[in-house]
Parts: sequence; C-alpha cells; structure tokens
Amino acid sequence: MAGVSLITGAGSGIGRQTAISLGQAGDAVAVADIDEAAARKTADAIVGTGGIAAAYALDVADPAAVADVAGAVVRDLGPVERAVNLAGILGFADVEDITDEDWSGMMAVHAGGTFHVCRAVLPGMVERRRGAVVNTASVFALRGQAGATHYAAAKAAVIAFSKSVAREKAPFGVRVNVVSPGPVDTPFFGRGMSGDELDAVRRERAKTIPLGAIARTGQVSSVIVFLLGDGAAHMTGQVVSVDGGETMR
Ligand SMILES: NC(=O)c1ccc[n+]([C@@H]2O[C@H](COP(=O)([O-])OP(=O)(O)OC[C@H]3O[C@@H](n4cnc5c(N)ncnc54)[C@H](O)[C@@H]3O)[C@@H](O)[C@H]2O)c1
Repeated sequence: MAGVSLITGAGSGIGRQTAISLGQAGDAVAVADIDEAAARKTADAIVGTGGIAAAYALDVADPAAVADVAGAVVRDLGPVERAVNLAGILGFADVEDITDEDWSGMMAVHAGGTFHVCRAVLPGMVERRRGAVVNTASVFALRGQAGATHYAAAKAAVIAFSKSVAREKAPFGVRVNVVSPGPVDTPFFGRGMSGDELDAVRRERAKTIPLGAIARTGQVSSVIVFLLGDGAAHMTGQVVSVDGGETMR
C-alpha cells in the first residue's frame, strides 16, 4: 500500500491500531478524531516509526467539518484512496429512557458520520476509478441488543447505507465493505467500569463467544486492512463479522 488513508476514530482502540498498521504498510495516514490530542498521539506513533501521518481534529457528526477536513487531507497528503469509519460512541438505556438527544446523537455519529465521510471521499475515488471504504457495524446490529437499541439501530443503518453505496459505486471500481466486531478490548468496551467490574464483564462476555475471548484490536484491524487491500479486490457490500463466532450467518 502506498496511497493515502483517512481513518476516523483513529485516536483510540481499533482506529488507532488500523492507522498504525496502514502507516506501517506504507500509506500516508490522515488520523482523524474528535479528541485532537489522541489523534496527534497516533500520528506521532506513525511518524516515530518512519511513516507518514497527519492529525486532524474532527467531529464526524458535523458535515461542514468533515468536508473541510477531507479537503485538507487532499491538500496535505494527496487524494484519499482508502477510508475507514471507526468513530463511535456507545450508550446504554432502555427504550423508554432514551432521550431525543441520545437518539439523534447516536444516529449523527454512526450513520451521519459514515455518510458525511463517504460523501466527501467517494467523488475522488470514482473519478480515479479506484478506492476502498470500510465502515463499522457491530454484533448488536445483527442480533439486536436489549438496553442499546439506539446504538444497534444506528449500526444497522450503517450496514444498509454501506450495501447501497457499494452497489452505487461498484461500476466505478470503488469497493465498500463493513466490519462487524463483537466485543473488542478497547476503552469503548470498558467505558464507565472499574477494573474489577471490567474483568467480570470480560469473563462473562467471553462465555457467550464460541472462540472464548473478546477480541484484541489487532484482530479487527487486520481484517480491515485486508478489506482495504487488493487481496479483497473482488469483495464489496459484505458485512464481515469479527466476533469469535458469536454470529454465524
Ligand atoms: N470495542 C467494541 O467492543 C466494539 C464492538 C463493536 C463495534 N465497535 C465499533 O468500533 C468502532 C471503534 O470502536 P473502539 O472500540 O475502537 O472505540 P474507542 O472508544 O477506543 O475509539 C473510538 C474513537 O472514536 C472517537 N470519536 C467518538 N465520537 C467521535 C466523533 N463524533 N467524531 C470523531 N471521532 C469520534 C473517540 O474519541 C475515540 O478515539 C466504533 O464505531 C464502535 O462502535 C466497537
């Protein structure tokens, strides 16, 4: 790989690992995150090992900001060949307790953010007849999740959107796939829990997974990198589960 990648949510977790892997593979990486300091840390890690990276503060829910950053990336690094939407938030509440703000915030980050980034990068990919996008769903979107209905619905929207864009852009050589993780050991998974609580939840959750463990970030980022590369040249519109076998479709 020796092009330009744009990764959202790249300040932490799966996004950070994906950005580092793409940097090691030779891409110039645009590291975007709402947490500017975290984005800078990831970019520094890539540059520190001889790679090329630039950090961007970005709220993917803000359409104008996404358009601005996408333009800056092209000016700073060159045309975007690969994009990965990993920015994400999680919330738990029963349906009757979900506020309008919770609902619209969840939709704005996951469905909206994915849409904003795709809208910004796809025209360049179509023009060059080359490009790959990976969007992120969740096991919750595929099997449903009590207590996180707004998150599950937002991730299901990402899947329908991605399949539709994949069909729309396939004639132009642009591929769009979805990675659908089960639980992954990132700050996202443990948010709001103490160390002991987190260990207990990890153990309980692992029991529901045929392969017997929650994923490490590298086990998801490796699949994302594969989907972006020429090894996946004949794959588009796919939802690839990386969940230890929790969903078998
Ligand atoms: N960790 C899991 O168990 C798990 C499971 C299934 C799906 N996912 C999905 O994988 C993706 C990555 O999750 P992760 O586990 O690496 O989480 P993480 O919390 O480690 O990283 C998410 C990053 O997104 C950033 N972010 C949040 N809102 C943003 C916004 N509006 N604009 C830009 N950046 C924003 C955060 O600052 C953070 O750096 C998310 O879409 C998440 O929904 C995670």
